[in-house]
Amino acid sequence: MTSFTIRAGVPSDLAGCVALLAVHEGADDGAGVVMRQEKPSRETRVRAWFDRPRHLLLVAEALPSEADEAASDPADRLVAYARALFLDSTPTTPGGYYLSGLVVAPWARRSGLGSRLTEARLAWIAERASSAWYFTNARNTASLRMHESLGFHEETREFTLPDVEFDGGVGVLEHLTLDGSTCPQADG
Ligand SMILES: CC(C)(COP(=O)(O)OP(=O)(O)OC[C@H]1O[C@@H](n2cnc3c(N)ncnc32)[C@H](O)[C@@H]1OP(=O)(O)O)[C@@H](O)C(=O)NCCC(=O)NCCS
Repeated sequence: MTSFTIRAGVPSDLAGCVALLAVHEGADDGAGVVMRQEKPSRETRVRAWFDRPRHLLLVAEALPSEADEAASDPADRLVAYARALFLDSTPTTPGGYYLSGLVVAPWARRSGLGSRLTEARLAWIAERASSAWYFTNARNTASLRMHESLGFHEETREFTLPDVEFDGGVGVLEHLTLDGSTCPQADG
């Protein structure tokens, strides 16, 4: 069984993150979150993650065996990335910390890695806010089940975000309190 280590993302993870993003965006299963405007290149978008304030990037690496270590390209060892960031309020969404962008390489799924990365991001958010938000396509069953297994619940499907639209037209905004307070609660 492969072991994974989780750490903060650094600029040298650019290629690995771009590759994961390409796997995710290339697998058009009709359950994606897409930008309304034409997208900048993946590399340009990923590069911006490293400079963004109030933003967390975590990556997971497969730990190579001694035999593999010399031969393997570090970018190939990146098996997942996960982000969290602060978003300002909009007329239909609260301001606060949002989980954003989680991709696990297909071969590494269903091993608990997505959940571990999400728990780590929630711990980071809990140091800054009393609740966390997340949105996804209503068709993304894997994402909804994983987040709901960690306590998220659906808040609304009546929301819009600048430049974001959902394949099929429906997104789900979900919420989790991190301090036992009554839901919903937005953080400033
Ligand atoms: C969604 C995603 C991140 C889940 O990552 P993962 O590492 O496989 O998740 P975990 O192993 O932690 O799964 C935890 C639980 O979530 C649920 N789950 C995960 N994948 C599922 C699937 N394909 N179908 C149904 N339930 C699923 C299960 O309850 C699972 O527990 P179990 O394996 O004991 O049954 C992964 O499928 C992925 O990268 N998908 C493509 C990108 C994406 O859609 N990201 C989310 C955007 S918001």
